[in-house]
Amino acid sequence: MLRVTDIHTAYGQSEALHGISFDAMPNETIAIMGRNGMGKTTLFKTLMGVLPSKSGRITIGDNDITKDESFRRVAKGLAYVPQGRMIFPTLTVEENIQTGLENAKVRSIPDEIYSLFPVLFEMKRRKGGNLSGGQQQQLAIARALVTNPKVLLLDEPTEGIQPSIIKDIARALNEIRRMKGITIIVSEQVLSFAMDVADRLFVIEGGRLVHETSRADTDVSRIKQYLSV
Ligand SMILES: Nc1ncnc2c1ncn2[C@@H]1O[C@H](COP(=O)(O)OP(=O)(O)O)[C@@H](O)[C@H]1O
Ligand SMILES: [Mg+2]
Repeated sequence: MLRVTDIHTAYGQSEALHGISFDAMPNETIAIMGRNGMGKTTLFKTLMGVLPSKSGRITIGDNDITKDESFRRVAKGLAYVPQGRMIFPTLTVEENIQTGLENAKVRSIPDEIYSLFPVLFEMKRRKGGNLSGGQQQQLAIARALVTNPKVLLLDEPTEGIQPSIIKDIARALNEIRRMKGITIIVSEQVLSFAMDVADRLFVIEGGRLVHETSRADTDVSRIKQYLSV
């Protein structure tokens, strides 16, 4: 579904991604694990077209999206939940979700969104800025989902979120996959969360993927070593 081939991305003269390649299948969840500064956000921004890649190729199904602007990537089935969530604090929960429906024919929010995230239904008239971090994360995921993506990207969704809500988010991601059969790519530093959701785990270090494992074969202590300083 998503194929990433030899992606290089630089900030000015300084290259941050040195040839990233991986494939993700439909109905597969992949975790990209790595410490701060290793290149997770740069990778996600490159996949989304927020940052240009110097070289390499990105395809969704048979569509080459490497040269597309972000909004075209969205139309071709990519959705993005950025690090830090970036919801609209002064809009209501309902209005925040509707911003994801801007190009849709129907502006009403599908019932499945509220059944995935009941707390958003309870709070639909509240301002986004008044929600807890975990609730804002669920809102950001809901907003991304209403575009009906084939591939959902989530950049560190558990950052700054309390453990009980982390479990809710893992449950929601597994439910999304079961309902929609989509591809989910999630970057993470919390290994227990990645083990709850991912079929395969990669480790990113210094802008390179340095380790790959299936969930079943995961050497937990080895991944923990990569994640500790
Ligand atoms: N706007 C930027 N300008 C220059 N360098 C950046 C910028 N953003 C990130 N970097 C550098 O790129 C590398 C990867 O950063 P980033 O992708 O944010 O890592 P992560 O998301 O894994 O914490 C780091 O060395 C970081 O300093
Ligand atoms: Mg980051």
